[in-house]
Amino acid sequence: MDAKAVFHTPICDRIGIAYPVFQAGMGFVAKAELAAAVSNAGGLGCIGSGAMGSHELREQIRKTRDLTDKPFAVDILFAEIKADKTDKDVVRYADNVQRLIDVTFEEKIPVIVSGLGNPAGIIPQARKQGVIVMSLCGNVRQARKLEASGIDVIIAQGHEAGGHTGRIGTLTLVPQIADAVNVPVLAAGGIADGRGLLAAISLGAQGIWMGSRFIATGEATAHINYKNRIVEIDEEGTTITRCHSGKPCRLIRNKFTDSWVGRESEILPFPLQMAKVGFKLAEQARYEGKIDDGGLACGQSAGLIRSIKPAGQIVRDVMAEAEAALERRIVHPDWKPARVSSAA
Ligand SMILES: Cc1cc2nc3c(=O)[nH]c(=O)nc-3n(C[C@H](O)[C@H](O)[C@H](O)COP(=O)(O)O)c2cc1C
Repeated sequence: MDAKAVFHTPICDRIGIAYPVFQAGMGFVAKAELAAAVSNAGGLGCIGSGAMGSHELREQIRKTRDLTDKPFAVDILFAEIKADKTDKDVVRYADNVQRLIDVTFEEKIPVIVSGLGNPAGIIPQARKQGVIVMSLCGNVRQARKLEASGIDVIIAQGHEAGGHTGRIGTLTLVPQIADAVNVPVLAAGGIADGRGLLAAISLGAQGIWMGSRFIATGEATAHINYKNRIVEIDEEGTTITRCHSGKPCRLIRNKFTDSWVGRESEILPFPLQMAKVGFKLAEQARYEGKIDDGGLACGQSAGLIRSIKPAGQIVRDVMAEAEAALERRIVHPDWKPARVSSAA
């Protein structure tokens, strides 16, 4: 079996990348250095524009271009403005979001990712410019709706994921979405090594979208205390809470998350809680290293993350691990024969 061919899925050729390893566009954390390192290693890097203004985004895009000649993506949170009765079929975005969209198209970024909200409003322009639009998705109903709106790729993100997340686990979500839609699917949530890539391919995905694993890298713009805390905690070290933004979000469990337990009725609806509480604390945690009092988004895959590594090394390791897992678990399984009890 040609292991390289197993992992070189059609989406790799469509985007022009060597490996189906996609780095999540994490707000605050994923900027030029990280995106370029992943793309240079053969995956697809992504700038998270979530906490940026349009000038910073343009700067980061240009910086990424200085560091790599490979393709990379931009992730946008598509906050929508409610349409009035006369134009209810028109999708309109908040001014700051529209400016991020404009910069991304002007800079001719080949892949745009929607992390939140409704990206349908950019589909006509994306078609015209040949831009691939991908969207995160947490259930089958939403996946069908996204496909109907013209989305090119669906990222099925399971409950295990860091940041905003849904109720369905990755293992059951990915095959159900892969069965329900005809567009390519990527698997996300709880994946941090090559075994996860092999599993994702088995479930019908064409690649993996990893967030938490890429925080613990030299290139992520996160404080060293945050990276170290990810390495220290195990699979029980995170919790789902609305205290960050008003929506369920997976964070590292700490004094901040504990302080909201029993006070859930005081949490404001999204996005007010984010504006009043989450945004500032996320910034403090990610930039100032306030890891007990800050908001540290991270997934359950923290239990698999045992060291801080260069981002390019992660891409290479994931591919080598996936090929080894394919060989040892499937092609030539090395399971020890089970001991049969003679007492039966
Ligand atoms: C620190 C952090 C910030 C995130 N910010 C964003 C964001 O701005 N936009 C987005 O689409 N997803 C965001 N996510 C979710 C990721 O895109 C991704 O789906 C998730 O990390 C995958 O799960 P994993 O962490 O288990 O790999 C964030 C995740 C983390 C951990």
